[in-house]
Order: sequence, then C-alpha cells, then structure tokens
Amino acid sequence: MSPSLRRPSIIPDYRQSGLQPVPKPWRDFPLKGMLLDADTIRARLETLASEIQEQTEDGPLLMVGILSGASVFMADLIRQIRGELEVTYIGVSSYRSGITSGSLAWTLPLQVDIKHRRVMIVDDILDTGRTLEMVTTHLESLGPASVKRCVLLQKHRESLHQEGDAPTIQAEHVGFLIPDTFVVGYGLDMDGQMRQLPFIGSVLLPES
Ligand code: XMP
Repeated sequence: MSPSLRRPSIIPDYRQSGLQPVPKPWRDFPLKGMLLDADTIRARLETLASEIQEQTEDGPLLMVGILSGASVFMADLIRQIRGELEVTYIGVSSYRSGITSGSLAWTLPLQVDIKHRRVMIVDDILDTGRTLEMVTTHLESLGPASVKRCVLLQKHRESLHQEGDAPTIQAEHVGFLIPDTFVVGYGLDMDGQMRQLPFIGSVLLPES
C-alpha cells in the first residue's frame, strides 16, 4: 500500500458544483439534476477502500453498516478491500417524511459481539450528525477496541454552522463534501424511493 495513503485523502468538494443532466434512462424520476455520476463515485470508492484497507493491516475490522441507506455504498466498498474484515448491519430510522427528519429509533439491533473489536461504522450521509453520534455512542458502550466512521457524503449545512450547531461528530473517512441539498440515489432515498439510481441526484422538490 502506498505510504502516501497513510493519511486520509483530501475530500472532493462538491459544495459549489453545478448539477449535470440526469442520464437518459432515469429522466422520468423527479430530479433537478445529477450531482455525482457513477464513474466519479466508483473512482472515489477506490481511494476510500485503500484508506480502510490500510487499517486492516493493524488487525481485522468489523464493518457496521447503517441500514438502509448504507447498503449500496457498503456493497461496493467492501468488494474493493482485500484486508481481513467482517460485515454486519444495524438499523436506525429517523422516521422522516420526505426530507424532514424526525426522531431516531433502532429498527435492527446489532447481531454480533463487538467487545475488543475494531469497528468501522459505514453510513450514507453525515448531515446533522445525530445518527452517527447515536450509533457511535451505542457501539462504544459495548466495549470495542476502537470505533471509526466512514460516510459516502458529508452535507454542509450553512445554517447549522451559523447557529453554532455544526455536527460535533466527525467521520475519519468521507467520500464527498456536498451542498445543503436533499440527495437521492446510490442507496439514499426519498420516502423509500430512488435508492436504485446508480448516481447521486438532487431532488426536485415541489416548492423548487
Ligand atoms: P443526520 O442528520 O442524522 O442524517 O446526520 C443522517 C441520516 O439522515 C438521512 N439523510 C438523508 N437521506 N438524502 C437522503 O436520502 C439526504 O439528503 C439526507 N440527509 C440526511 C440519512 O438516512 C442519513 O443516514
């Protein structure tokens, strides 16, 4: 493994990026445009996988995906990591309707003993940070050797930063920084829809 990857790579910043046209087969979906295409995601996953693979050199990792949003990301990520790892999932729902997030609830308890194990939480997006914080606190209470986090997207909410309410939790591995817009695809949904898109798209909201 390249020594230059010993530090997490620079996170591609899409906060100011414009949207691209939605690829033809998906034009009937209610999207404003495409933020990240499938090739860009694939290329970035190679780097994230290398970063995580380095961590397996210090011992096996237990990858804990947060359902359902992390399912597609996790499936693609682990297939590029050749180090020793195990995969499991935990379910958390924010009971949101559309784009409005609500209270958090466990929907699937952890199925494995994580005591003394090196854990990597995998999620689709870090937004307010509430989900990752709740899962981290819970897993840390179970006595693991360490807990780290990997997210595909980190949303930048200017309003939270202005109010001094920026997420306190950080992910050690982040795929892309994105603007404060509701995104779907590649596992992310709106009301359960559009998870199957092979790219990340920005949703066409009724008021926009
Ligand atoms: P928090 O605010 O807890 O958000 O960091 C993380 C969870 O909220 C959901 N979320 C989104 N889902 N498009 C989605 O499909 C979005 O733009 C979005 N922003 C937040 C998601 O379930 C994530 O795990």
